[in-house]
Amino acid sequence: MVRLSINVDHIATIRQARGGVWPDPVFAGMVCEHAGADGVTLHLRLDRRHIQERDLRLLRQVVKGDLNLEMAATEEMLNIALDVKPDQCTLVPERLEELTTEGGLDVIGQKEHVQRAIERLHKGGIKVSIFIDADEDQIKAAKEVGADRIELMTGPYAEASSEEVVEREFEKLHQAAVLAGELGLGLNAGHSLNFRNLARVATLPGLREVSIGHNIVSRAVFIGLEQAVKEVLEILRSASP
Ligand code: PXP
Repeated sequence: MVRLSINVDHIATIRQARGGVWPDPVFAGMVCEHAGADGVTLHLRLDRRHIQERDLRLLRQVVKGDLNLEMAATEEMLNIALDVKPDQCTLVPERLEELTTEGGLDVIGQKEHVQRAIERLHKGGIKVSIFIDADEDQIKAAKEVGADRIELMTGPYAEASSEEVVEREFEKLHQAAVLAGELGLGLNAGHSLNFRNLARVATLPGLREVSIGHNIVSRAVFIGLEQAVKEVLEILRSASP
């Protein structure tokens, strides 16, 4: 079955709205695992707009499945990752003005930089994934710089406004998944996935894991976090090849 990692950033977003301690993304991570999730994802952004270093350090202590740290490949973030040692780091592009990650990392445009970052993380025993668009050349570049896995950006498929675009974007994801398999890259996927568009993504060949945040936290407001996680697990259970 395709693994599920829950992104707890938006639990922290609600906490930061009042600057207090509640709701706690660390507690949320424990609830997600208790509900059956395979791991927890968090993005420690350069501006610390939601997740704080304290969350990362405590989650490292309590998460029993895989802890996935999304991060920009900066010196500061590399030092934090090497100190905390998540199970996987996912390298993402980051812009201060963006509301959320807007697209995959341009690996081709900064090959040496990304390769050095991956080498350092590997020396620390950390697996590395690169968040990437469904683009053949970028995926080949991810292989060349030594990534263990890629996380396919599913936003253009998930947010497509017509059937025609849905089909076109899904076909791109499918081709990218096949290429990742041929190159021996592990395959993750994420961004804008929800209980409606997830089932099809779960059929991508070789898919290892999906990472879902905003939709699960949004649904949790109405039906509770545990139930929201369980519903997604049920979709993955039914849809996984
Ligand atoms: N994967 C990456 C690399 C992301 O940046 C995000 C957004 O934080 C997600 C997955 C999860 O996206 P969403 O919150 O839309 O489920």
